[in-house]
Amino acid sequence: MLKEPPHTPPPRQAAEPVPGTQIPSMPGGYPFLGHALQLRTRPLEFVQELRKHGDIVAFRLGTRDAYAVNHPDLIRQMLVTDAKNFRKGRMFEKGRLVARNGLFTSEGDFHLRQRRIIQPLLRRAHIQQYTSTMHQIAHAQVDTWREGQEIRMDRELFDLALATVTRVLFSTRLGEGRSAAVCRSLPVLLEGLGRRAVAPIDLLDKLPTVMNYRFARALAQIRGVIEDIIAEHRSRPAGSEDLLAALLAARDEQSGEGMSDEQVYDEVVTMLIAGTETTAGALSWACYLLSRHPQIQRRLQAELDAQLGDRDVGFDDLGRLRFLHQVIAETLRLHPSTWMLMRSPVTDVALGERVLPAGAIVLFSIYALQRDPSLYPDPDVFDPDRWVPGRTAQLPKDAYIPFGAGIRGCAGEQFARAEMAVILSVILRRFTLQPATARPARPIVRLIPMPGAMPLTVRRRPHGHGIQAVR
Ligand code: HEM
Repeated sequence: MLKEPPHTPPPRQAAEPVPGTQIPSMPGGYPFLGHALQLRTRPLEFVQELRKHGDIVAFRLGTRDAYAVNHPDLIRQMLVTDAKNFRKGRMFEKGRLVARNGLFTSEGDFHLRQRRIIQPLLRRAHIQQYTSTMHQIAHAQVDTWREGQEIRMDRELFDLALATVTRVLFSTRLGEGRSAAVCRSLPVLLEGLGRRAVAPIDLLDKLPTVMNYRFARALAQIRGVIEDIIAEHRSRPAGSEDLLAALLAARDEQSGEGMSDEQVYDEVVTMLIAGTETTAGALSWACYLLSRHPQIQRRLQAELDAQLGDRDVGFDDLGRLRFLHQVIAETLRLHPSTWMLMRSPVTDVALGERVLPAGAIVLFSIYALQRDPSLYPDPDVFDPDRWVPGRTAQLPKDAYIPFGAGIRGCAGEQFARAEMAVILSVILRRFTLQPATARPARPIVRLIPMPGAMPLTVRRRPHGHGIQAVR
């Protein structure tokens, strides 16, 4: 039996605005570095310490003042109700080195226009059609696994997530060479961006260091792969209905102009970065947690068997797999794909009882929020039953935001949810996952906390051979 969680505690109230109130400061900063060292060397612990110092707490990045916002109502104000008063801030300015003016990093009216073009292609109507390709890709890869094989699950799921984004959204098969290039370069880029976002001084980006050289090389490799994808797509006969075709065909409502080649590149690199390591990380954590909680794994397999019979999962099944969605929800609570995000007020903004100055560096951590013991009892326990309908009624609206919220919330949420559900179903219908080592996984924090090397042993399920592919 799963441990019954205590009732959700009553929500914390955000304070009333009292402009001018002093913002508490985080102790423990170093001269010149401020708290940059803590953010760099033990980021997940540090964002949780920041949370313990109040709803808003001041700290320093080098000699610059920065603020962490920890209360769900205040985070909601930044992301949703007062979003027009915030830009995306320092982290995303650094992100422009890679994603330039793509959907993740662009601002204002330009961002809205691009979002109007891209968002519909990642919504339900298209997901229905994407699900069968997602299934084919997962099926082909998982069927190569052998009974008792030890699998580097983190790598396997990265390959699957990369193949899914490139085949579904760009109708491209990368092949081994280009997949390996992305696999090598993406982590280097994410690590470099994470480092730059919290660096105490900007100059560090520009020095001729080994790390900066590796970053530049990784960027050139990704650029090469994306230029190939776009060139291949352009050389195909018209008729493809994927996201890249829509980007190439899009016209500005007023001027009638199409997107420049540079802009198409920016959106493709954005989708590749936003859509690969995020989903791969979430899937890896889900497999890891299931391997460590055999009862939960068995319960999930029982649901899949009961709902699907001898078929594999299809789009119409997704709504019925309630426990699967609870497992995904709980995985994304414990291991959200972004450990910290940033914003910057465009004008002085009253947030709760404090005022944040225009231009400030403002950090919020979905990781710290979703492990807050005042919101989630036993916050570090993996308990998918927290998400039984009705149990979460007491949670403040934005206490759970793995996909962010508001106009800058994740454009690929429905895509990612469908992809995770399909891949987990395909794996767990055929195999039971067991830890291959007793060593617990330790998150490696780049821009996205990844599980690091995660070997799992796969055990073929006795009736897992007779599954019919989805029609
Ligand atoms: C488990 C998987 C994923 C998680 C947890 C996730 C999470 C997030 C979060 C938290 C944000 C908001 C960032 C902010 O507020 O600053 C975001 C934005 C975004 N995500 Fe995702 N994401 C996932 C998968 C995907 C996928 C598969 C795609 C594309 C196919 C995607 C595309 C984007 C884009 C384009 C944005 C920027 C949206 C904008 O600013 O308009 N994401 N994501």
